[in-house]
Amino acid sequence: MTTRLFNIDPVLVDAPMPIITPRLILRPPQRGDGYILSDAKRVSWAELQQWMPWAQGDIAALSVEQEEILCRRKQADYLLREDIMLFAFERETNTLVASSGLHRMDWKTRIFEIGYWVRSDATGQGYATEITHALLRYAFNQLAANRVTICHDNENGASRRVIEKLGFVKEGEAPLDGVLHGRFRGTSYYARYDLSGLPPLDVRWECEP
Ligand SMILES: CC(C)(COP(=O)(O)OP(=O)(O)OC[C@H]1O[C@@H](n2cnc3c(N)ncnc32)[C@H](O)[C@@H]1OP(=O)(O)O)[C@@H](O)C(=O)NCCC(=O)NCCS
Repeated sequence: MTTRLFNIDPVLVDAPMPIITPRLILRPPQRGDGYILSDAKRVSWAELQQWMPWAQGDIAALSVEQEEILCRRKQADYLLREDIMLFAFERETNTLVASSGLHRMDWKTRIFEIGYWVRSDATGQGYATEITHALLRYAFNQLAANRVTICHDNENGASRRVIEKLGFVKEGEAPLDGVLHGRFRGTSYYARYDLSGLPPLDVRWECEP
């Protein structure tokens, strides 16, 4: 395994967008996305509440303005290379079907963490798998990743399945990793160190805006 360390300012890292997969276009949030993001969250809130620590509270409190603020902040984070949140749009319908991204990155060691949620009326169609696979290819081939991590709540069978399908190696488990809905939850942690063993995927990326 070749491990490379990088000393350049992350702002200078080329992270071309969008990323295009067979069924999806992935791009960072931008000005004007607040409405479609709040719509996707509304449709998915019950499921998101079950698994995502940030999705707590009453759905009525979710405002388009707050989501617009989030989108603009995430656009700025992308430009600064502090976080790469990515929205996934179905190419056929232009619907926002998932939010994903490369997070908690260390640009010197080139370690990234993948996260995702899929709009509830679009689950079960392989989108999380297609997105995660595309992000693995992007991280290793474009961003020179040394390690890409991912994790799931031990009770989240669908997320575990996505991770297993893509051949991540389990690195460990934290049995009492946090409290959600008033009780401790365990988390399993995984990583990939290269693209070995993955099936082919038609994925490409274009020029940075
Ligand atoms: C987890 C999530 C991202 C999966 O998205 P998705 O697009 O439906 O995932 P995919 O279709 O690519 O793959 C899902 C796999 O899990 C399987 N699955 C679904 N529910 C399952 C369950 N309860 N237990 C075990 N496997 C399950 C599916 O059958 C499929 O496997 P298969 O291809 O072998 O049939 C989506 O359900 C979601 O957004 N959940 C809420 C947020 C969340 O949990 N995010 C992850 C945090 S770690």
